[in-house]
Amino acid sequence: MSGSKLSVVVTRRLPHQVETRLTELFDATLNASDQPMGHDALVKAMQNTQVLVPTLNDNLDAATLAKAGPDLKLIANYGSGTDHIDINAAKARGILVTNSPGLLSEDSADMTLALILAVMRRFKEGSAAVQSGSWQGWSPSTFLGTSIGGKTLGIIGMGRVGMAVARRARAFNMNIAYHNRSPVHPEIERNLGATYYKTVDEMLPHVDTLTLHCPKTPETHLMINAQRLALMKPTAFIINTARGDVIDETALITALENNKIAGAGLDVFGKGSEINPRLSERENVMLLPHMASATQEARIDMGEKVILNIKTFELGHRPPDQVLPER
Ligand code: DGY
Repeated sequence: MSGSKLSVVVTRRLPHQVETRLTELFDATLNASDQPMGHDALVKAMQNTQVLVPTLNDNLDAATLAKAGPDLKLIANYGSGTDHIDINAAKARGILVTNSPGLLSEDSADMTLALILAVMRRFKEGSAAVQSGSWQGWSPSTFLGTSIGGKTLGIIGMGRVGMAVARRARAFNMNIAYHNRSPVHPEIERNLGATYYKTVDEMLPHVDTLTLHCPKTPETHLMINAQRLALMKPTAFIINTARGDVIDETALITALENNKIAGAGLDVFGKGSEINPRLSERENVMLLPHMASATQEARIDMGEKVILNIKTFELGHRPPDQVLPER
């Protein structure tokens, strides 16, 4: 690298500590408006910088990457998931991709538990009754939810977040079932009291609540579809804090409308921030704005990871969080 500072474009507003550090260390261009960059602005940025710091709002598919300028050498993603970046296309253009993994697991697991509790214990209906003034006082027969203890939590994706969810669910006396590409270490399995299912289909009939913690890949795209929903108990709940299109949202809505599924807690959606009104109007559905990892601490840690990756790259070393193509 030359003696001059690396040029870095950051596509969204980041915590001020992170932005300050970025401007101290690099020739950084920030996004004071915090508006997601449209395609044209993104391409323009990619033609004039050496490093891009995007977020999951930026669609960096092969066609967009093909328009990158020759100086762009590093995409240091601010976030863990990289499904919005075509890693193969980046590699083919000699652009390295890094992410910021491992920092969001505990916060995301907390929010997953919050959603499990919320839907199983009917927070939304209870809170709406109190806040609207329609609550008439305690009654033995209203707002009856489902006990958490003794129920089986099915986890798809037993990575860092899945395990953090399992640990919390154990404290609530839930039984843990899981599906993963391969079983976790037997000792971890034992500590979590977790039962491995080789296939999703085998596991689904046994779960009382299903929670998704797998990445978005061609294999997991619309993984929870009408056929799989039909394998679940009609008393079961679904939680998704992973990525929206792991679930076929239309099939889920149909199952909810036909009482084939008892409720859902969703932090992510099939069409980003465009929410299907058939979902939002349902009492047994709790919706959050992709905020499972939204804590001040996590956002600062993510920024520090991004800086570490850029700095390591600048020094000519392999950044610690390089994302490699799957195949
Ligand atoms: C990620 O980092 O991919 C998360 O979804 C952001 O919250």
